[in-house]
Amino acid sequence: MKIYKKIKIGIIGAGYVGLPLAMQLQKYFDVICFDIKKERIKNLKKKKDVTNEINKKDLKKNKIFFSYDQSSLKECNFFIITVPTPITSKKLPDFRSLKSACQLVSKNLKDKDIIVFESTVYPGATEEKLIPWIEKFSKLKLNKNFYVGYSPERINPGDKKHTIDKIIKIVSASDKKSLKIIKFVYSKIIRAGLHVASSLKVAEAAKVIENIQRDTNIALINELSVIFKKMNLNTIEILKAAETKWNFLPFRPGLVGGHCIGVDPYYLTYKAKQLGINPKIILSGRNTNDQIPKIIVNRILKLFKKKKINKFNSKILILGATFKENVPDFRNSQSLMLYKILNEKISKKVDIYDPYNNKKIAFKNLNFIDRLNYNRYDCIILSVAHKYFKEFGIKKIKKLGKKNSILFDVKSLFDKKFSDDQL
Ligand SMILES: NC(=O)c1ccc[n+]([C@@H]2O[C@H](COP(=O)([O-])OP(=O)(O)OC[C@H]3O[C@@H](n4cnc5c(N)ncnc54)[C@H](O)[C@@H]3O)[C@@H](O)[C@H]2O)c1
Repeated sequence: MKIYKKIKIGIIGAGYVGLPLAMQLQKYFDVICFDIKKERIKNLKKKKDVTNEINKKDLKKNKIFFSYDQSSLKECNFFIITVPTPITSKKLPDFRSLKSACQLVSKNLKDKDIIVFESTVYPGATEEKLIPWIEKFSKLKLNKNFYVGYSPERINPGDKKHTIDKIIKIVSASDKKSLKIIKFVYSKIIRAGLHVASSLKVAEAAKVIENIQRDTNIALINELSVIFKKMNLNTIEILKAAETKWNFLPFRPGLVGGHCIGVDPYYLTYKAKQLGINPKIILSGRNTNDQIPKIIVNRILKLFKKKKINKFNSKILILGATFKENVPDFRNSQSLMLYKILNEKISKKVDIYDPYNNKKIAFKNLNFIDRLNYNRYDCIILSVAHKYFKEFGIKKIKKLGKKNSILFDVKSLFDKKFSDDQL
């Protein structure tokens, strides 16, 4: 057991996944948290987490060594890679961050070190791409000089209930000995327990299908909401009725963006296509979810006609710009897509407000406002169900609009009687 005491962990990528993981692991191990973004590391050294996942008080107490100097990883013998896995403009897996992380770790790799990947990929990616890169860059051999694990992350940013220690963690490894050490490390921090997958591929596949299942289920509910709208029926009322059956799954219609649910399906569809399979259901679900901003805009156009509002002179407000509620994460936000389409199809006077844009992130060509003004808008779209808007209250939200204004409550944050339309 002596070897376990010497474990020194290097986390590569101090983002939504890497930082909370580092915070847990530092309770039991020496941890170096590395990121290529200097600003991110400088902020963390100043005890400031712009992702809002870790508060100042907890950051002050930690003993993590934050660094953007890759030579600081030299002392580590257990690396965990938590870098982004986005898609390209052609919706293909973008492995650039993973490749550069492999390069970086390879430079610091020593005999018998372990590398665990947590970034979401498709089944087979670790063995087909990541391990060969490490072998090439380090000139070391898998299961002889170094070992590899795959342990997908299931963290849900903004969710203070399902924290990392309370979520069962899947672990897998390239051989039995390294699996034992990987289990030892994670079992220290995961109170919910570990699930050992029989191979790296099984662990990779399990993660990617978790998000595909979610994406496809939301797509189904989005499609149902379109059908029910045509029938003049309220989808939420129907869902609430259906959910009284024990095995009806509680999904809600909405905009699907972000860097996981809207992205991960393309990792598996890429692999499926390589194997000669056309993954129709997965891609059709993706396509349905991508259509939602357009559907909302078309419905708003109808409301403009009904209320006899001249769209060319109209002022529109979008409330909420992050990809989901209560997180400061704007990646692949469908509210931003909504903005773009509104701007093209309805009016050039679209304002967008989000309480999480407190850093005043500059979005190209987007009219972000800092404060809300009353009696100004012809149409208000409540796009993201932030707690902030719930607390702001429906009365005040309505007052932002002019007398005859439209309120479209995308996520049904308030009762349907208050809004002109919902999904
Ligand atoms: N955020 C989530 O909800 C979530 C949940 C489960 C799984 N995941 C997966 O985990 C992975 C990380 O996601 P995230 O949300 O934490 O991303 P993130 O963008 O918040 O953080 C990743 C960090 O890695 C850094 N980085 C990029 N390339 C690097 C490199 N070569 N070396 C060192 N640092 C590098 C970035 O600067 C960034 O700070 C992705 O594969 C994602 O799909 C994310």
